Amino acid sequence: MDRIAEPELMDSPEQAQAYANADFAQPHDRFVQLFREYFDQPELSGLDVLDLGCGPADVTVRFARAHPNTRITGIDAGPNMLALARRAVELAGLTDRIHLIQGHLPGYALHHARFDVVISNSLLHHLADPVHLWEAVQRAGKPGARVFVMDLLRPACATEWDFLVEQYARGEPEVLRRDFRNSLRASYRCDEVEAQLEGAGLGGLAVRAVSDRHWIAAGQLRG
Ligand SMILES: C[S@@+](CC[C@H](N)C(=O)[O-])C[C@H]1O[C@@H](n2cnc3c(N)ncnc32)[C@H](O)[C@@H]1O
Repeated sequence: MDRIAEPELMDSPEQAQAYANADFAQPHDRFVQLFREYFDQPELSGLDVLDLGCGPADVTVRFARAHPNTRITGIDAGPNMLALARRAVELAGLTDRIHLIQGHLPGYALHHARFDVVISNSLLHHLADPVHLWEAVQRAGKPGARVFVMDLLRPACATEWDFLVEQYARGEPEVLRRDFRNSLRASYRCDEVEAQLEGAGLGGLAVRAVSDRHWIAAGQLRG
């Protein structure tokens, strides 16, 4: 199927609330688990982590709990998403370790080479140009930084597209079903991500599908 882009921000109050209310425990815990497996490291210690496009901070909070000795900065362009993120971080009692920033990629002046780890979930397919994510990763990560990005995988055909929406968004509010459907169509295939990484000078990151609807790109920046 050809890719069809969707609006960059999903930040109407209704969209942000429906997204924050959804149960993403399975894919978000899997994000944390796959990070551990990929880097063969049960727990990070004393490191600075950047979460690009943190949304309502569900991944951010799960990652922070899994790595209690880290400091995490979450950045997102959506004010409504960030308001929900702030509430989630407060409820989790993690305001001392999770710092949230409103910022748009590109444009937001990320600190150069400040972070030991850069993570991102489900941001790439939203961006007007995918290179904005890879540039942010390169800019913000220290030499040798661990990079772990996960996103949706565009279905191969309309039948698979319909199946995935039914399988994973059945019974959800219409706004969430529509966003999921549009996001699947706006997402990339693994070979497209590999080409983006080559073009951005990040060909050292490995890309692979990890489920019927997700891929990861992971590795370390050049030391
Ligand atoms: C599908 S949500 C993913 C949120 C979170 N990472 C998660 O996995 O739950 C995508 C997020 O990317 C943010 N976003 C989209 N375009 C952006 C941009 N150019 N700069 C910063 N954030 C952006 C949106 O506001 C939204 O919160």
